[in-house]
Amino acid sequence: MHRPDAPKAPKGIILAGGLGTRLRPLTKVTNKHLLPVYDKPMIYYPLETLCSAGIVEIMIVTGGNSAGEFLRLLGNGAEFGLRDIYYTYQEGEGGIADALRLCEHFAEGGPIVVVLGDNILQENIAPYVAKFREQGGGARILLKEVEDASRFGVPAFDGERIAAIEEKPAQPKSSYAVTGVYFYDARVFEYIRALSPSARGEFEITDVNNRYLQEGKLCYDVMKGWWSDAGTFESLFRANQLVAQERKRRS
Ligand code: G1P
Repeated sequence: MHRPDAPKAPKGIILAGGLGTRLRPLTKVTNKHLLPVYDKPMIYYPLETLCSAGIVEIMIVTGGNSAGEFLRLLGNGAEFGLRDIYYTYQEGEGGIADALRLCEHFAEGGPIVVVLGDNILQENIAPYVAKFREQGGGARILLKEVEDASRFGVPAFDGERIAAIEEKPAQPKSSYAVTGVYFYDARVFEYIRALSPSARGEFEITDVNNRYLQEGKLCYDVMKGWWSDAGTFESLFRANQLVAQERKRRS
């Protein structure tokens, strides 16, 4: 039964734009998210992350080379049990927050779950989606302990509380990475509009998260399963290995 006062279910957004410059020449003629990770194209993993958490309305933000190939590969999403998939196109390389900006109309004022297209997770995010829904607004991020924190957004803690998040700090204040799975209420678009570009000329998602932090509205969980990004040769290789091991474990 439809209840008009029921909180809206979050919609899913996959950010799969950018030029993938750190993976050249692999990305010279194709989009990073179409590259293989073990036995599937990279984009399959974030898509499965959202689908297995019960998220049925999904937007893919693509960009750069071969953007049309996403449609050829994923079509209307039937293979993933979806009714359809929404697509949009990011011009240039304005960063994660710039790509997210394109999804305001899609969100329709409701909550969203954002997954970076090169993030590969072992676990089902359904419990985190449930916690986000329970918290009633604000934002939620997922952390994971890593060996090379300076490649990521890194939280500095004050006890259990996050005091601030630093983007790619030379001297990380903790060994946790902010992973590319973000939960936001509709204020995210207002916060993005207020951003200025960072030193690397991008609109940083870390600035958005820090804004929620200043408002006292940023919650977090620490991910239990393995996690990897796949935007560098080393992390792409690692993601392949993790997925291969997982397949073996499950067979
Ligand atoms: C981006 C974010 C960073 C986050 C990472 C997760 O980094 O800027 O905060 O920790 O994704 O994958 P990028 O992949 O753009 O270097």
